[in-house]
Amino acid sequence: MQKVAVITGAASGIGRGLAERFAAESMKIVLADVEEEALAELETDLKSKGVDVLTVKMDVSNAADVENLAAHTLDAFGAVHILCNNAGVVCSRPIWEHTVADWEWVLGVNLWGVIHGIRAFVPRMLAQGDACHIVNTASILGLIGGGGTGIYKVSKHGVVVLSEALADELAQKGANIQVHVLCPGWVSTGILDSDRNRPDALQNPDMEDPPLQQTLGGSGNARAEMEAGMSPARVAEHVYNAIQNGTFYIHTHPEYKAAIRERMERILE
Ligand SMILES: NC(=O)c1ccc[n+]([C@@H]2O[C@H](COP(=O)([O-])OP(=O)(O)OC[C@H]3O[C@@H](n4cnc5c(N)ncnc54)[C@H](O)[C@@H]3O)[C@@H](O)[C@H]2O)c1
Repeated sequence: MQKVAVITGAASGIGRGLAERFAAESMKIVLADVEEEALAELETDLKSKGVDVLTVKMDVSNAADVENLAAHTLDAFGAVHILCNNAGVVCSRPIWEHTVADWEWVLGVNLWGVIHGIRAFVPRMLAQGDACHIVNTASILGLIGGGGTGIYKVSKHGVVVLSEALADELAQKGANIQVHVLCPGWVSTGILDSDRNRPDALQNPDMEDPPLQQTLGGSGNARAEMEAGMSPARVAEHVYNAIQNGTFYIHTHPEYKAAIRERMERILE
């Protein structure tokens, strides 16, 4: 049977890489994103290669949109085997300067988006009974602490612990659903231009967004580090292998393991 993969944030970056990787395995692909033009462009590209595609313009922070995505997927393809809760955004200023709109936007997409995905899809996967996989995109910033992009780190730490709880509860139930949490370092994508998808209702009309403070390589230039980052295709290869091997924590950048260890040791001390 042809497998069905659903990817949120599919129109760009890591999501697009996942869509192309799963399409190469002859899966049916559901592309979900808020950015209509990029979504249509990817749909045309995949269809020209003979891929069976469904596109859904939607907002992951909206529970009804995610429920509609799940219903549409089942109507169109009759099943779901892989769900990638991947859509994400970033914005950065000192934590105490973040507006309520900043918090609502980043937590709405990065954390609530994953929560809505779990609520809409897990009951359908359980009813279906086939072997299924849920890949939640967190970040290396979901595993380490420290200053910079605090709001984003809160959302991504949330995604990690949510994934851990989900995996344990599904295992205790004996469900045929494996959970994976993707924790990349820099990947060359559109993430630093996340503002392009910020809804009008959550704008800060009278504030300039400062450039991203977070750097992982210590260069002080987040954009240069991001642009020199891993390709989405390589990240997608890691994800595909993790699905094959049953790996829970997907580390694409093992060079940051020392920072995780250092944080854990500080906690234990
Ligand atoms: N690029 C990196 O260095 C990096 C590192 C670690 C984790 N991540 C995570 O990877 C995921 C994908 O980001 P990316 O780097 O590919 O960035 P990207 O901007 O290239 O892609 C993100 C996609 O999410 C979509 N999106 C944004 N808000 C949405 C919403 N409300 N509803 C539906 N779709 C929405 C965008 O339109 C875009 O297509 C994110 O969760 C991000 O936090 C990225």
